[in-house]
Amino acid sequence: MRLLVTGGAGFIGANFVRATVRERPDVRVTVLDSLTYAGSRESLADVEADIRLVEGDITDAGVVGTLVAESDAVVHFAAETHVDNALADPAPFVRSNVVGTFTILEAVRHRSATKPVRLHHVSTDEVYGDLTLDEPARFTESTPYNPSSPYSATKAASDMLVRAWVRSYGVAATLSNCSNNYGPFQHVEKFIPRQITNILTGRRPKLYGTGANVRDWIHVDDHNSAVWRVLTDGAVGRTYLIGADGERDNLSVMRMILRLMGHSPDDFDHVTDRAGHDLRYAIDATPLRDELGWRPGHADFEAGLRATIEWYRDNESWWGPIKDAVETAYEARQQ
Ligand code: NAD
Ligand code: DAU
Repeated sequence: MRLLVTGGAGFIGANFVRATVRERPDVRVTVLDSLTYAGSRESLADVEADIRLVEGDITDAGVVGTLVAESDAVVHFAAETHVDNALADPAPFVRSNVVGTFTILEAVRHRSATKPVRLHHVSTDEVYGDLTLDEPARFTESTPYNPSSPYSATKAASDMLVRAWVRSYGVAATLSNCSNNYGPFQHVEKFIPRQITNILTGRRPKLYGTGANVRDWIHVDDHNSAVWRVLTDGAVGRTYLIGADGERDNLSVMRMILRLMGHSPDDFDHVTDRAGHDLRYAIDATPLRDELGWRPGHADFEAGLRATIEWYRDNESWWGPIKDAVETAYEARQQ
């Protein structure tokens, strides 16, 4: 299989590419990534000889058309992904997430007229908005879309484009909406790596608001094994929710990080809350489990978090050069 992976130099994409090279020698991987602040060649350094890395933009119809024409399948991860950045400047989110997905869909549509190309679109549970803290409900495939932030609104728009291209043009696409990922190679702007690297650099961890907000954590390798399962066995046109029953409030995750790193439970600062901060996400992944037989491999969150802390301890050369600038930007926003 000739597989095009957009956003393959980002957090989830790089883990996806590395796992694919490790576990699927029959797959020839091309990565298309514009190497924004969130993308890093170094995340692919170990597998550089096994893949082709094209530095280019998903809104560039020329490069996208050429690469799609050379591919049997496309897994589309590329996006602007950080909610706080979207609140500060939504423009790149509209461009990359909406126009970029449109550009990929058009390339797949045109190529499919002569040769079938399979597309998998990677999306987020944030398209469903949020749940309250005290209800048992979880997101399902039929939960109405209700995005809260500029980030989730652009991801919702991209999902709608994919569905319209499936129905109107017969594009062979699947979609998945996953909950919060954690693991190695995640940018230090995100919650878990930010706190770990704050502690490693002698800064105090930062909690938005009271920390009651709940996220449904899944190890990045589990997200990626589910993406592969949907790509190979999923029904075209279907949406699969990906989650691993990992609901935890932010304060508990903060305290677990502090404990695992030998600090006292209150050794953090409360900072200004995020505008429009979603309260709770929770995924019901029953169809993925029952219909496609997928199971997560990292059920033990504490073990996964401990391994993630070790990875950041051992890989300061990967995150060290960008840490100060990230914290300076946060300080300017009093976060
Ligand atoms: P990330 O921000 O770490 O990486 C995004 C990658 O996309 C980067 O390598 C960046 O350079 C690239 N990119 C951005 N704009 C581009 C453009 N215009 N052209 C080419 N490349 C571009 O993101 P991530 O956390 O790895 O997320 C990957 C995907 O998974 C996104 O679509 C995101 O919405 C989705 N997702 C993320 C999570 C999560 O918890 N991180 C959960 C569910 C879904
Ligand atoms: O649910 C999937 C989504 O998860 C993905 O679509 C997004 O791309 C990804 O960034 C993530 O979004 P969140 O906004 O949930 O992740 P973030 O790591 O930014 O924040 C997680 C929670 O922690 C959230 O409730 C905000 C809070 N937080 C975040 C930071 C950076 C803090 O309390 N302190 C912080 O310093």
